[in-house]
Amino acid sequence: MQLVHTLADLQSALAPYHHPAVVPTMGNLHEGHLALVQLAKPLGDITVATIFVNRLQFGPKDDFDTYPRTLAADCDKLHAAGCDLVFAPSETELFPQTQGFTVTPPDQLANILEGEFRPGFFKGVCTVVLKLLSCTHARSAVFGKKDYQQLKVIRQMVRQFNLPVNVLGGETLRSPEGLALSSRNSYLSPAEREQAPQLHAALATLAQAVRSGSTDFASLQEAAMQSLRRQGWLPDYVVARRQSDLQEPQAGDALVVLAAARLGTTRLIDNLEV
Ligand code: PAF
Repeated sequence: MQLVHTLADLQSALAPYHHPAVVPTMGNLHEGHLALVQLAKPLGDITVATIFVNRLQFGPKDDFDTYPRTLAADCDKLHAAGCDLVFAPSETELFPQTQGFTVTPPDQLANILEGEFRPGFFKGVCTVVLKLLSCTHARSAVFGKKDYQQLKVIRQMVRQFNLPVNVLGGETLRSPEGLALSSRNSYLSPAEREQAPQLHAALATLAQAVRSGSTDFASLQEAAMQSLRRQGWLPDYVVARRQSDLQEPQAGDALVVLAAARLGTTRLIDNLEV
């Protein structure tokens, strides 16, 4: 496996290949990321992981400075997973000037849910993902379904810009108790880690109610939020939405339930397709 830090070295490493399959990440990798690498491997003639903590997608009060940077350990894991090439640029390499051109995703998809609570988040994600797909010459790209809305936004960006990239979503990996694997789980104290599967449990209860035919989404969502609050969480949202565009559901829509909530100082997100 080769590790490159510059755009020039990336271009040299990619020169012999025609179909890079790319897994963009911010590092601090866990089994969920490595499963995305496994998904990417058969899709291309070279498997590329990018590791870049993207300042543009962090708000002023977010954890940009403290986000774990674990490049050596990440490379060991990627090597063992059979990744061929890692692109880990510095900020000045990827953003040599202030980024004047940015990608602003449409409000109805990007200013709801995560976008409502993290203003500018999807603009930051889209801008860096467009750059990463472009400089890796991605023909396939794999993103985790744990970031469900992010996957929707990226798919729509790729479609609307006619990028020659096949976007795939990888299933969420979970601990035996149901906690979705996430880089931010490492922020949880041992007591919070014990409690953290409650987020998945709240979603599972909501999904079950929806599956059984209940359509009073407002009451179901409120009950899920109350239950989380009673257990010490600060929920941002717990909602049932339609899978296709994350808008309020109509009869017959395929649904997804999504949640974001804070446990102590850690904000976790999760979702379940119904
Ligand atoms: O999901 C992530 O890790 C990030 O949002 C991504 C897609 C790598 C963009 O920085």
